[in-house]
Amino acid sequence: MTLVYVTFLCLVALVSSAELDAKDQSRVIRAGTRFTMRNYTSILSVPNGEQFGIWMWSELCPENFYATGFSLRIEPNQYGSDDTALNGIRLYCVQNEDRRFLYSVESHTGHFGEWTEPQWCPSGTLSSFQLRVEPHQGIFGDDTAANNIRFRCSSNPTLEGRGLAWGEYGEWSSNCSNGGICGIQTKMELYQGGLDDSSLNDVRFHCCTHKQK
Ligand SMILES: *[C@@H]1O[C@H](CO)[C@@H](O)[C@H](O)[C@H]1NC(C)=O
Ligand SMILES: *[C@@H]1O[C@H](CO)[C@@H](O)[C@H](O)[C@H]1NC(C)=O
Repeated sequence: MTLVYVTFLCLVALVSSAELDAKDQSRVIRAGTRFTMRNYTSILSVPNGEQFGIWMWSELCPENFYATGFSLRIEPNQYGSDDTALNGIRLYCVQNEDRRFLYSVESHTGHFGEWTEPQWCPSGTLSSFQLRVEPHQGIFGDDTAANNIRFRCSSNPTLEGRGLAWGEYGEWSSNCSNGGICGIQTKMELYQGGLDDSSLNDVRFHCCTHKQK
């Protein structure tokens, strides 16, 4: 009786300590800043990020894990109230394309909106990106800054996030070669306490290279 109860408690603890992805029934563990000592080889950036906010901390996938999927935190159109659009980007890090055991990284994330369903590369890793940004709306305008993102997979298909449509896409970043995206750093405008929020303004991603055997 007691043993059964203890087993039950352990199971509850296990399940609640890891998010369950409804579709993949995967365990997702938030990597946070535990793996920032990992060696990365380059950083991908784009020229069209917006000006507000500051660069927050980096988060990296564990050694041998690469980002193969992502989801976005999106605040839907507020129809006249303060819009922020894209609030966060979460990367799913996978080892050897095995999606049953995932780490996630996201750097700083804004307060608004819901996470979209994960989108995955059919094979390979995320290897470059393009950011959709609404330019500064002037002193009395409602800024949203970054609205959406597209990634290219190393196997070539592109994945477009389920973000909003304000603004334009800029240039593609350069590509990660022989490996893939393995980390993220966001540029965030901190909560403006009732004034015009724009939330996520820019992002950069780390590239890691497979070890030579
Ligand atoms: C990073 O690279 C350096 C130099 O090659 C190496 O000494 C170090 O052990 C590496 N760190 C990790 C965490 O792999
Ligand atoms: C990145 O890779 C894509 C697809 O393979 C290619 O079309 C593009 O020219 C590459 N970009 C750079 C900057 O090398």
